[in-house]
Amino acid sequence: MALNLPDFPWDSLEPYRAEARKHPGGVIDLSVGSPVDATPEVVASALAHATQAPSYPLTAGSETLRADMASWWEHQRGTGPLGLDQVFPSIGSKEMVGLLPTLLGVTAADVMVVPRIAYPTYAIGAAVVGATVVREDDPSRWPEGAKLIWINSPSNPTGEVRDLEYLRAAVSRARDIGAVLASDECYAQLVWDVSSSPSLLDERVTEGDQTGLLALYSMSKQSNLAGYRAALVAGGSALMAELLLARKHVGLIVPSPIQAALSAALSDQEHVDVQREKYRRRREVLLPALHKAGFRLDHSEAGLYLWATRFEDSAATLAWLSERGILAAPGTFYGEQGSQHVRVALTARDDAISEAAMRLAA
Ligand SMILES: Cc1ncc(COP(=O)(O)O)c(C=O)c1O
Repeated sequence: MALNLPDFPWDSLEPYRAEARKHPGGVIDLSVGSPVDATPEVVASALAHATQAPSYPLTAGSETLRADMASWWEHQRGTGPLGLDQVFPSIGSKEMVGLLPTLLGVTAADVMVVPRIAYPTYAIGAAVVGATVVREDDPSRWPEGAKLIWINSPSNPTGEVRDLEYLRAAVSRARDIGAVLASDECYAQLVWDVSSSPSLLDERVTEGDQTGLLALYSMSKQSNLAGYRAALVAGGSALMAELLLARKHVGLIVPSPIQAALSAALSDQEHVDVQREKYRRRREVLLPALHKAGFRLDHSEAGLYLWATRFEDSAATLAWLSERGILAAPGTFYGEQGSQHVRVALTARDDAISEAAMRLAA
């Protein structure tokens, strides 16, 4: 019996890709957020030095990695000190997003909440277990009895950042209704128009009590290692113990060479600062070009995307862009409320971003 899952959204972009290919300068693909810059040497060399791996790795992460993860959450995400039982690595963060309802035992009788405009995998996780999805951003409207609530800040696709006040309201409501609150924060170190994007586990939100809370972070974007599949999770001890047990049983284990690379990436902040500046420059080229071409940009204050509208159906905007050889993702991938937006990724090389800006101006 097959799972009842929708088609993979990006497959539907083929007609626009075919149109964009006709451009004499070729396609500029800004439809996916897949990093294009080199994996930092400090990370690549940690991997190269960790190829001997005869034994099974720890699902919880090696002791070194756990210490590095706990320290990273404390110093980069303001969580205050976390116990080593409050962290584990994941095989990229997408598997955690897609499998969290399964690992938590959410069933077809349950309700889950996801953002109104959201990365599609939250709803896929619900579909895997047959749970009902409610799309709601306002914590005061989250339904009684919901089992799991997802928030995502900075948001993919909109780039919206949630402040401390929102996060506190989210925690309070989730605790009132007895739901697990999971926060996907994988763009948190790529902020532009705000000073920071606080974690759900920020001490100013939790006051040191992480019960029922989870935060996910991914190294894919900030460290250009999407191909390694390396991410990390932190949260309340009881919840983390339950998830770790499930992950051990089903074999969701990060390979030990990747654990070594993850440790190296977490211990070096310089490469993150360098990468952030690359994206900042690309954004500074693309954003005004979109404005001049008649787009309005909404949110887009953080993360790797510009959330743009020409006040028409996203299909019409995709067609307009593909005539210029540019591929973007339609807002409809992220929910009905995105029907007049497109998501334009900053993940292309400098020359491709400059060329896209020129085509938008032509
Ligand atoms: C909001 C969000 N969460 C999770 C992921 C998954 O990232 P990864 O599996 O590479 O860690 C992505 C990737 O684009 C994302 O945009």
